Amino acid sequence: MSVYVITGTSRGIGFEFLKQFSEDPKNLVIGLVRDKSGAEKKVKQQLGDRANVHILHGDLTDYASLKQAAADTADIVGERGVDYLLASAAFTTLFDQAEQVEEIDRVSAELYQINATGNIHLFKLFLPLVMKSKTKKVIAITSGHADLDLINDLDIDVAALYSASKAALNVIVAKFSAQYKKDGVLFMSLSPGVVDVGHYENVPPEKLQSAAGFMEKMTKYAPHFKGPVTPSEAVTVIRSTLEKKRNSSRSIRSITAMGKGQMTKAEADCATCRRRAIRCDRARPNCSNCTHAKRKCQWYGLRLSWPRDNDRRRAIVSKPPRPAHSAPTSADQISEARFVHTSHWDIELYNNLAASSDARTLPLLDVPIIWDPSDLDISDRDLLDYFCRTASSSLATLGHDATALGHTIVRVALEADTPSASAVLKAALAFASLHRHGFQSQALELKIAALRSLARSAVAPSPGLCPRETVRHVAAGMLLCSFEVHQSSCTSGQWTGYLAGVKTVVDSAASSARGLREGDPDLAVLLDWVRYHDTLARFSLLYWSRGGAPELPLNPSGGLFYPQVSNLGSPIVSMLDMLSQVCEVISSVSIPSKASDSADDFKGFLEVIEWRIRSLSIPKAVADDSDASDNETLVLQLYQLAMLIHLHRRSEGLLDNPLKTQQYIDQAFGIIPRLKYCKQQFPVHVIGFEARTDEHRVIILDLIARTEKMSLSRSFNYCKVILHAVWAQDDLAYRSNVSYQEKLTSFNNAPSNLSIDLDTPKAVVSGLRPPRAAKAQRNPPADEAQPAQWRDGAHPPEPRRVQHERVQAAAEHGHAGREQARRDGVVLGDDTGDRVDELDR
Ligand SMILES: NC(=O)c1ccc[n+]([C@@H]2O[C@H](COP(=O)([O-])OP(=O)(O)OC[C@H]3O[C@@H](n4cnc5c(N)ncnc54)[C@H](OP(=O)(O)O)[C@@H]3O)[C@@H](O)[C@H]2O)c1
Repeated sequence: MSVYVITGTSRGIGFEFLKQFSEDPKNLVIGLVRDKSGAEKKVKQQLGDRANVHILHGDLTDYASLKQAAADTADIVGERGVDYLLASAAFTTLFDQAEQVEEIDRVSAELYQINATGNIHLFKLFLPLVMKSKTKKVIAITSGHADLDLINDLDIDVAALYSASKAALNVIVAKFSAQYKKDGVLFMSLSPGVVDVGHYENVPPEKLQSAAGFMEKMTKYAPHFKGPVTPSEAVTVIRSTLEKKRNSSRSIRSITAMGKGQMTKAEADCATCRRRAIRCDRARPNCSNCTHAKRKCQWYGLRLSWPRDNDRRRAIVSKPPRPAHSAPTSADQISEARFVHTSHWDIELYNNLAASSDARTLPLLDVPIIWDPSDLDISDRDLLDYFCRTASSSLATLGHDATALGHTIVRVALEADTPSASAVLKAALAFASLHRHGFQSQALELKIAALRSLARSAVAPSPGLCPRETVRHVAAGMLLCSFEVHQSSCTSGQWTGYLAGVKTVVDSAASSARGLREGDPDLAVLLDWVRYHDTLARFSLLYWSRGGAPELPLNPSGGLFYPQVSNLGSPIVSMLDMLSQVCEVISSVSIPSKASDSADDFKGFLEVIEWRIRSLSIPKAVADDSDASDNETLVLQLYQLAMLIHLHRRSEGLLDNPLKTQQYIDQAFGIIPRLKYCKQQFPVHVIGFEARTDEHRVIILDLIARTEKMSLSRSFNYCKVILHAVWAQDDLAYRSNVSYQEKLTSFNNAPSNLSIDLDTPKAVVSGLRPPRAAKAQRNPPADEAQPAQWRDGAHPPEPRRVQHERVQAAAEHGHAGREQARRDGVVLGDDTGDRVDELDR
């Protein structure tokens, strides 16, 4: 039983409220109208004698009448109070197109007085009664016309003055809510959608035309919209919302409750905004709220809900009712509700089936993993979940979504109960542990467990690896490689070993197992991953090489990376090919000196390569406020520019065109501020080397900070350390020219046990870190120790010698040098400081 007070019950939606609520004789319904006797007559005629209906006089423009109505209501309801106060009355001018100044003034004043001020009086006068009830709900009937998104999206120009008065009402409701929420009063605005209450009768044709235009726009906006609904339909939908049990965490917002076949505003919002009860701009795929708040913009439209135990409402198959006299049947044996499980996969499949007539054109869908999580202990389950949700996003790859790659890995790990599958699982858990807690015993133990499983699977009595085993070995090897690459505090070069191992596995399997290259989508994804690392590894090793033989077998695996195996799009495949070629050209062939006979030929060759890099067909990014796909496009453009810059710099003066090089650099620095993030370190590195001004350095460091903040990538610590050191060299050598190659290789002899932590420069540079502790932290255990090496795009730390020289140089450059040193995180010891002061004097 509830008590309702409703304004505007003489007709339209208000009358329908009165009718529906009073159908239940236990309810008490009080209607406020301007014409009391006319309204009473209508109620009697249309609803008969309903003892639970009371009609009171109340005019929104007449405060005294409202006050009297509140007093009369108090007499009727007594201590029960008012459960629902519904402000439905309104001055509705759907076709207002006032042109004359006086008319605008008159209509606006009337609209504001009735629709805004009148409701303020109403709320204030009736609030004491509302507070007496348990339900405490105040609902203002607003309009979609006051929805800024709707106006902007559909360019709705009609009913401007009416819409403004309803927008004012929305704000008034929000303000009341803000004030009375603490008292447990729920204020909300609800829109009934487009309702046929006779507004369109007797309308002159020119005005009907604008109404028709509005309907047409609505149909485009919400394809399900089939025109106005009846008051009965609208009120039914509104009731379902306003009678809902209250969710205390939900704040107030306006909801468009539409009739049958119309899309509700709430449905059109993204689920994250709906849950947060905030206005959603419905931008796809990510709305602005979610983008700014860095939240996951969850589903639009259809939402799956998960059945709970004994939840019969959602059960598809449940125990059928048995007539009392019939004998028990087998159906009676069903003790619980049974569920048909539907996942996002089923819906994706359905969408594909519904959209395509030819089954062969269906894209390959990920097959859901069938596994029993109870096989894993609780900490492994937790880590695996972390791997899927978070850690996998930092797997270094290009052209594939890293999280999707993570899902592939998890499927491979859980598909079988073999040592190789176990190796994949353990390696994934090791990576997750490293990502979550840094380098510590759990990560190490899991890594060793992965290695043991791999070793067990390698001794299995099998003549060669079957295709699926190959997939597992590749996945495990690449995860172990990623584990090494991800560590920023350890200079182990094991990653190259894992990569070489993976390539060997694929090469041998490719020769023994026909069909390996085709037909296995998992393998295609994994091979693309290998290919990316292989290319970048070649770059890293050659980049940092002083000319000695690199340790990684650099020959591309024969046939391993056939284009037909790859799922990568063409610009990425071409990009990686070109990067391979750049590595090839500037390493294996010794670059002839400018004076030599072959210099011209070689220059021509380099120019062809440059032309080919420039001709890579990379799509243009659309806007500055770009979405994720635009970010990918910008990263590709950055790759392209980084390759061009690198080619110029490494050509030993043969491609000596400072203007052109500068052009590439300027373009790159123009792109970086537009990037939300850049997980790939190669372009950051190469372009960071070119940052000579504070402005450019800030641009680079900001990009790194943005990327690190998203926890999407492995640590940029090494990258930052190297860039800081290079920038210091550039500043210190401002009078002379340090060769690009010299700069690159000057860090080559870094001792493996020295780590530079930019956050604690004092301990590092002044050597205050206790040597034992530092060593224990950075060095892998003895059985894993490897000679110092580098990893893709990351570099060994600055040697102590170089740091020492920087301190010296800082001292010798007086204050300027000291300031630079401070910026670089170099802490000048007391003795150095004395020398600086001395030099100043
Ligand atoms: N119909 C739609 O498509 C639609 C769409 C969106 C929102 N809405 C909103 O839904 C609510 C109901 O709309 P409706 O279509 O049913 O409107 P309606 O048919 O025009 O009815 C308006 C009601 O408000 C009353 N009213 C007008 N001025 C008043 C005043 N000064 N004091 C007290 N009552 C007054 C009218 O009483 P009298 O009989 O005395 O004039 C009438 O009962 C309104 O708030 C409207 O803005 C309607």
